[in-house]
Amino acid sequence: MYKPGRSKLLGIFLKKLLKEKNLSQRQFAKQANLATDYVSKLVNGQIAEPRKEIRRKIAQGLGIIEGEFQDLFDRYLIDQHSYFDTDKTQSETPNFRQLSGEVAKANSDLVYDDWGDAIDLEGFRGRDDEIRTLEEWIVNDLLRCRLVAVLGMGGMGKTSIAAKVAKKIQPQFDYLIWRSLRNAPPLNNIISQILRFLLNNSEDYSTVSENEKILLLINVLRKHRCLIILDNVESVLRSGEGKIQEWAGEYEPGYENYGYFFKKIAETSHKSCLLLTSREKPKELAVLEGKNLRVKFLQLSSINLGESREILLDKGCQCTDKQLEELVKRYSGNPLALKIVGTTVYDLFSNNITEFLREIQEENAVYGDIQSLLETQFNRLSDIEKQVMYRLAIHREYLSLAQLKNDLRTTDVESKILEVVESLLRRSLIEKEANTSRFRQQSVVMEYVTKSYIERVTHEFSEKKNLSLFMPILYYKRDHLIISGKHKND
Ligand SMILES: Nc1ncnc2c1ncn2[C@@H]1O[C@H](COP(=O)(O)OP(=O)(O)O)[C@@H](O)[C@H]1O
Ligand SMILES: [Mg+2]
Repeated sequence: MYKPGRSKLLGIFLKKLLKEKNLSQRQFAKQANLATDYVSKLVNGQIAEPRKEIRRKIAQGLGIIEGEFQDLFDRYLIDQHSYFDTDKTQSETPNFRQLSGEVAKANSDLVYDDWGDAIDLEGFRGRDDEIRTLEEWIVNDLLRCRLVAVLGMGGMGKTSIAAKVAKKIQPQFDYLIWRSLRNAPPLNNIISQILRFLLNNSEDYSTVSENEKILLLINVLRKHRCLIILDNVESVLRSGEGKIQEWAGEYEPGYENYGYFFKKIAETSHKSCLLLTSREKPKELAVLEGKNLRVKFLQLSSINLGESREILLDKGCQCTDKQLEELVKRYSGNPLALKIVGTTVYDLFSNNITEFLREIQEENAVYGDIQSLLETQFNRLSDIEKQVMYRLAIHREYLSLAQLKNDLRTTDVESKILEVVESLLRRSLIEKEANTSRFRQQSVVMEYVTKSYIERVTHEFSEKKNLSLFMPILYYKRDHLIISGKHKND
């Protein structure tokens, strides 16, 4: 589509770059292998958006790569308030203008929020230093980070801490939106969802290119202070499991544009913040961290002894200082692991920590790390508890008691659903959604259960065994199992 406004801006931008690089139009034309006539039309804004091949030549003429040229130009566009805001350009860029519409905020005292599937924070302990640090990075006027990522192994408390901080600083923002990437939605869908929320419309943005959507979003992020939280970013990163060689922080095929998006948010000037949680540091961000003061990472490590003691006490498990130190060391101060261990010690070892510690020393593998801890814990569940766990793993999102009951109505779980859910909650294998009675699994737990489920079904198929335990679930969600939940909640 011909966009006179944009081509005129391209001309001005090109002229500016030539001046900066001390290049005459003739020299540039020669280096770019373009006709001088064409270059003169380009800088005078008479050419519609050049094709990819020409853009490559323009970049070559300037001595940069094509991607960099595009990045610079995009940034320039965003910096030109007039492109979006003045009446003059309004008529030149009708589609952009219409799409950006009026932002939802009408009253400056109100905060608009969409917490998506954020978790319940009941029982959250301590982490005061980490909360203070994040708060400082995001809201301190001297820093005002544009992109902050909370990193750490599964169960370490990334989601909880992000929710805690977001709740605390929400009054300082005009908008807040929380989205989880746990089902690996394509970037396009996530940005459209965010735009629909921020611009308070029901556009499907299907005719707008991804790049333009990013520009549109950045434009809103400049006008309003928005806090966007993307949880579970590791879902769009490639897992190294089962592969011979894999580098951390690479994207799953088809999800590389997330990297571009993060980079844009980090590098372009605006007054908002993107808060991410991830088990791994995405590749682009690792590079940005050093040179961009507005990008920061918080690596979550062990929770302290006092907090650990409280978590264990919540599960009914009491211990001496020495025992506590040993437990925390053994499980790297991982709150999820400690919650699970607390229940195990209470239930299986009649609250006798010494015996539990002796057992883990003797049998290193059992209860050894969070994976083997999950395995032991899972194997101990009753068949009906396992059925509910499989059901939740396949569904991947929150389910209400009624939904669970309905899905398992042909089995003997139905009448006991309440007890089963209570038991799983107590074992910290499932979690409750904030302010509702819906449940889902912790993501580390979900991964473990999905894997175990697939292994078990595969085994039973190959052995041609009776599949009665699994049939209802297989029957309901066969395709979801095969695609393992990806793209489900787009
Ligand atoms: N500081 C804390 N105090 C109490 N419980 C915590 C704390 N941090 C995490 N948890 C609990 O540990 C579990 C894992 O936390 P979560 O935030 O989901 O971890 P992650 O997102 O890193 O996988 C949850 O059940 C959560 O309630
Ligand atoms: Mg999480």
